[in-house]
Amino acid sequence: MTDGVDNGKRRFLTIAAYSGVAAVGVGFAAVPFIASWNPSARAKAAGAPVEADFSKLQPGQMMRVEWRGKPVWIVRRTKQNLKDLASLTGSLRDPESTINKDGQPSYAVNEARSIKPEYSILVGICTHLGCSPTYRPELAPADLGEKWRGGFFCPCHSSRFDLAGRVYKNVPAPTNLEVPKHMYLSDTRIIIGVDEGSA
Ligand code: FES
Repeated sequence: MTDGVDNGKRRFLTIAAYSGVAAVGVGFAAVPFIASWNPSARAKAAGAPVEADFSKLQPGQMMRVEWRGKPVWIVRRTKQNLKDLASLTGSLRDPESTINKDGQPSYAVNEARSIKPEYSILVGICTHLGCSPTYRPELAPADLGEKWRGGFFCPCHSSRFDLAGRVYKNVPAPTNLEVPKHMYLSDTRIIIGVDEGSA
């Protein structure tokens, strides 16, 4: 369950938890309408919502699920990560996510860009030309500089995003990473692709 997790170096903390795995453990009593609805692989690829269970995710770790053929990241931020978000405002292009405000969920329009500040849910596709950035949770690594407080680095053209998916100034990516529609089924389980406002 922790394949790919490197707790020693706190680097590339990725858990390969694709959608098929994430659905394990769903209780009929808790979410009968979900449990009775089991989308096929084809339906998932076409855009059906997917569930993710991140009950095993530790502070500082990231896991990835697939939704509509795209990676969706779930990051459990530490208390220090949350404090650091406020300190980055001056370095970011759109710290309050006001660009394209109407094109994103209302819960993405805040500093933490999330429903629960502890968890960041992001589409892992760079808003420049579509590469998938790398999770870089370290503080001040040599290659990213001493002001780096953890985030995502796109290796294609060096765009940088913080742990809320907010884009830094002076990089090619024009906007923050997308926050997908989602809602909580329990404290540590979400469904991606629908939210409270969906019909
Ligand atoms: S695709 Fe990410 S910086 Fe260009």
